Amino acid sequence: MPDLGRVAVFGGAGFMGSHVADCLDAAGYDVIVFDIRQSPYLSGAQQMVIGDILDEQAVSSVVEGCDYVYNFAGIADIDEASANPLQGVRCNIIGNTIILEACAKAKVKRFVFASSLYVYSKAGSIYRSTKQACELLIENYRELFGLPYTILRFGSLYGPRADNRNIIYTMLTQALKEGKITRYGDGEELREYIHIHDAARGSVEILGQEFINQHIIITGYQKMRIKDLLFMIKEMFENKIEIEFLPANTNLHYEITPYTFAPKTGRRLTSHTYVDLGQGILETIHDLYNSLEIKHEI
Ligand SMILES: NC(=O)c1ccc[n+]([C@@H]2O[C@H](COP(=O)([O-])OP(=O)(O)OC[C@H]3O[C@@H](n4cnc5c(N)ncnc54)[C@H](O)[C@@H]3O)[C@@H](O)[C@H]2O)c1
Repeated sequence: MPDLGRVAVFGGAGFMGSHVADCLDAAGYDVIVFDIRQSPYLSGAQQMVIGDILDEQAVSSVVEGCDYVYNFAGIADIDEASANPLQGVRCNIIGNTIILEACAKAKVKRFVFASSLYVYSKAGSIYRSTKQACELLIENYRELFGLPYTILRFGSLYGPRADNRNIIYTMLTQALKEGKITRYGDGEELREYIHIHDAARGSVEILGQEFINQHIIITGYQKMRIKDLLFMIKEMFENKIEIEFLPANTNLHYEITPYTFAPKTGRRLTSHTYVDLGQGILETIHDLYNSLEIKHEI
């Protein structure tokens, strides 16, 4: 296996970071996972450092000697960031800046940031503002210290290792446990879901030279309204589950398109092969079914 260099993955114990760490590992990179908690997904070849991204010393000692650095750490949930704005700013903006500072000093070849399609939107509240601030700071570090970057703007993800902050995970878990799915809102929102394996593969592909100092959109290939997705899931359960629509309780999420605000234009990363949405969801239902203890009679 070729040694392509050393990579630190901040937030590498989480949903996205752990999959990207696996892809980097499989591609021949030497991977160090840095997270505030032990990763349950650590593979034999990956090293683990437990620490806080707000700890400047811990961050710089991991970044020192790395060729590439990914940041997936921080508050990834819109509701959580709105419930605790100060913590959102601390983790997402200050934490990311501490990593940027260490990367500039260590002269890493690339800093890769997990941003979101919400940077284009007026929705997303504090979470979106933290992502916009981080993108601007990353561009500033490039201008001031020549730190090369790639900003990844992810769309809606699903697949193994997701938890109850992930919409597809919560819908499928409720269907399996209760025989119904409750949707707050009318389900008219459009989304392009991408399987985590495709997103993780793309996140490694962008280490190519052509992606230096670029804003890259990584999202799904099939646009779907949430209500159509729900009816597709219902059919997968042979119409034996109920779909219940209740009035929306927040309006933090976008409806049809995130594109209302214009930060730096992003290029969309495409691939010839990808996980079909229907098959990916079916596989997720099987995985969840096997992991759940209490199941509804379907
Ligand atoms: N999941 C999605 O659909 C999605 C979409 C767009 C963008 N993103 C972005 O991708 C990144 C990762 O998202 P995720 O879904 O994997 O979230 P996640 O919560 O599963 O992973 C985040 C990881 O960061 C770690 N972490 C949190 N605070 C830390 C700290 N102070 N120090 C060290 N580690 C800390 C957590 O322990 C966790 O393992 C986030 O920045 C998120 O905003 C996610």
